[in-house]
Amino acid sequence: MINIALPKGRLGEKVYAMFELAGYACPSIKENNRKLVFDAEDVGVRYFWVKPSDVSIYVERGAADIGVAGKDILMEYEPDVYELLDLGVGKCRMAVAAKRDFFDDGRRTLKVATKFENIAKKYYATLGRDIDLIHLNGSIELAPILSLSDVIVDIVETGTTLRENDLEVFETIADISARLIANKASFKFKTEKIEEIARAIKAVRDND
Ligand code: PRP
Repeated sequence: MINIALPKGRLGEKVYAMFELAGYACPSIKENNRKLVFDAEDVGVRYFWVKPSDVSIYVERGAADIGVAGKDILMEYEPDVYELLDLGVGKCRMAVAAKRDFFDDGRRTLKVATKFENIAKKYYATLGRDIDLIHLNGSIELAPILSLSDVIVDIVETGTTLRENDLEVFETIADISARLIANKASFKFKTEKIEEIARAIKAVRDND
């Protein structure tokens, strides 16, 4: 059996649909919304629903052989896993945003609110800019509105949240999408089966 960690939620449903089209269907997964583990013995896989930001932990530690995680999570936590494939779904970008009238003269320490501390630290380190990092867990857009921070580093998908809060993107740090990742030892010992799954998922992606 190949253990597969799927990100719970809207992205996970899209990703599961890709696995289904790729030939790894597990009908029971659609019937029960509280269960977390689903076996599809006929096709040799077992699915788990995992909090999206935890997928890479399960895969890195081998509790799952493969999984699907956002590039944002991979950039933030840098797990020791193989990144096998860009699934081309869950597309968004990691961006710096601020109030529309914000002007950065570059002279004082920039107050940056974010859930993605490491991404923000690295980004500003490459610019040689001193920052005061404020870690928040959600609703990051509130920070500049209430002057808790000058800017935010956050995910922008449709841009609606920024627009509705009179904020705008100042810089794009990276393009984000969902990635198929593999545990390194699993990849070594189950190469054939994992490569077969990756090939089938790639074919589904390319047909879309
Ligand atoms: C994410 C992100 C933005 C929003 C962007 O938040 O942090 O707030 O989505 O999407 P949009 O550009 O389509 O408006 P999420 O819903 O994950 O909740 P959070 O507040 O917990 O970060």
